[in-house]
Amino acid sequence: MNIVMINGSARKGNTLTAINVFKKGLANCHEIDIINPDQLNIAPCKGCGACQCHQGCVDQDDTNSTINKIVAADMIVFASPVYWWGISAQLKLIIDKCYCRGLQLKGKKVGVIIVGGSPTDNIQYQLIKQQFQCMAQYLSWNVLFHQSYFANSRDDLSNNKQALSELEKLGQQLD
Ligand SMILES: Cc1cc2nc3c(=O)[nH]c(=O)nc-3n(C[C@H](O)[C@H](O)[C@H](O)COP(=O)(O)O)c2cc1C
Repeated sequence: MNIVMINGSARKGNTLTAINVFKKGLANCHEIDIINPDQLNIAPCKGCGACQCHQGCVDQDDTNSTINKIVAADMIVFASPVYWWGISAQLKLIIDKCYCRGLQLKGKKVGVIIVGGSPTDNIQYQLIKQQFQCMAQYLSWNVLFHQSYFANSRDDLSNNKQALSELEKLGQQLD
């Protein structure tokens, strides 16, 4: 499979750990691309609607090359820290920009990895899960997993053996 992973964190912390461990579990036959929005030049969606009668986004930045990768993927893994009870602006930026090719994201396999600084009974994880469920329903996604982890300091997740083994197994289980 061609798997695109979107890293919603700018720091080398828990989200990156989760991405790397999941990636470690994946078989060599997969093609993997990690998108780091904070290292790209992507303007937020202006809602101009020009994309609806134009091929792609009119912004002359990294938007179209990034969205091309996502459209070409068989599977998208969305990974984000919790920021203010929701996903990070970095991840939301990319999701918003997918609007220009929205329906071409139909039927994708999807995985979601969320890491927050509060225990997993916090309502924030349900809110985020519901948001992804709505997107999945709209775009007929096949959500293969949605994982939420409690990790606050940069290296908390790398010290959570259970989380690491779970994430690696999720990678191994993909065919
Ligand atoms: C701007 C900002 C907002 C945050 N808001 C929340 C929040 O609402 N709930 C929460 O549990 N943790 C919150 N956190 C903590 C992060 O989710 C937590 O530290 C996470 O592990 C960061 O992931 P990272 O190491 O991949 O960047 C926030 C952190 C930042 C920087």
